[in-house]
Amino acid sequence: MDLFEHQAKELFAEYGVPVPTGKVAHTPEEARAIAEELFAAGSSKVVVKAQVKTGGRGKAGGVKLADSADEAQALAGRILGMDIKGHTVHKVLVEEGSAIAQEYYFSFLLDRANRTFLTICSVEGGVEIEEVPHDRLAMVQISPLDGVDRAKAREIAEQGRLPEEALDGAAEIIERLWAVFTDEDASLVEVNPMILTSAGEVKALDGKVTLDDNAAFRQEHDKYEDKSAADPLEAAAKAKDLNYVKLDGSVGIIGNGAGLVMSTLDVVAYAGEEFGGQKPANFLDIGGGASAEVMANGLEIVMSDGDVKSVFVNVFGGITACDAVANGIVSAYQLLAERGEAVNRPLVVRLDGNNADLGRKILSDAALDGVQQVDTMDDAARRAAELAAGA
Ligand SMILES: Nc1ncnc2c1ncn2[C@@H]1O[C@H](COP(=O)(O)OP(=O)(O)O)[C@@H](O)[C@H]1O
Ligand SMILES: [Mg+2]
Repeated sequence: MDLFEHQAKELFAEYGVPVPTGKVAHTPEEARAIAEELFAAGSSKVVVKAQVKTGGRGKAGGVKLADSADEAQALAGRILGMDIKGHTVHKVLVEEGSAIAQEYYFSFLLDRANRTFLTICSVEGGVEIEEVPHDRLAMVQISPLDGVDRAKAREIAEQGRLPEEALDGAAEIIERLWAVFTDEDASLVEVNPMILTSAGEVKALDGKVTLDDNAAFRQEHDKYEDKSAADPLEAAAKAKDLNYVKLDGSVGIIGNGAGLVMSTLDVVAYAGEEFGGQKPANFLDIGGGASAEVMANGLEIVMSDGDVKSVFVNVFGGITACDAVANGIVSAYQLLAERGEAVNRPLVVRLDGNNADLGRKILSDAALDGVQQVDTMDDAARRAAELAAGA
């Protein structure tokens, strides 16, 4: 999960990393009120910053300085609702303007290729790190066993060629960011820019944090979830522990195994071209051991998508053989009937792999309403697309 800048800064502040004072506003009036507070507290300028989960907001016109509360309100009015790289701005961060002497770059991240942690530090910040020449930045591997203490942090800042007057402040921030990175189970903590102010303080002026969802069970990260952006179907699927991603087509997809489902999406999109551009409506992987309940939950989620006109169940029997999956489908229909959820759109089933014949027989004997079996993946995809087009 990626955090908004304001969430990253709230987290930084909890760990003692200096950040500008500021608050989030959802309307121009709220932005004005926050700006008034900041000016009253002694700020000479305030900054209005679009809160969207993408970089380059400054370049896109989403970060603006204001000299008065009036101006902050007007700027918020312009920035709210703006589209930045496909993200609509629903909130802005209004914070004190900093007198910037220098801008640096700093990040902790995973170095997957080398199976370790990596830090990148450069005296050139505020620009995209890809644009900084390699000899102007330090890339230092961090042993997870040794971690980063104050001395190591200072060494990193020195290697990034930060000037003498910024070293102590930067080292303190880097040591604390390491605590953020490890204690919060983050896979990225980026501060671009980290600044030196004209008063000689070092601060985090921007923050990008990616939290590892696999660690959710031992963290309290739910509070950061962006409920406004979550698709209601995806939220319902998540509550049922299903691997579901909503797409914008008409053919519902259920399969076992992420790889098989990915290729099913391709095959359906390809077959759908012939039928007026029918496309997959979702990704749904019910996993290896697909019980009747998981199948029922999957069908329920897919069927509750109004855009779905037909459903393609594509199963390759492995450890869970096809007869078990077929029984799962039959029981799923019963379960759904008990829940009062009708399966009211055609279902194309392709069973292959272990015990395919037995599975096919179970399904034909059950003679479920609207269920058709097709033996190959290509033909089944074609049939599902055709049904979606005809609906
Ligand atoms: N509080 C602030 N005070 C002064 N300048 C700021 C402040 N916040 C951002 N800026 C300026 O705006 C630039 C872009 O802001 P930043 O938060 O890094 O957004 P992005 O990386 O999305 O463009 C910064 O490099 C900095 O020069
Ligand atoms: Mg930035």
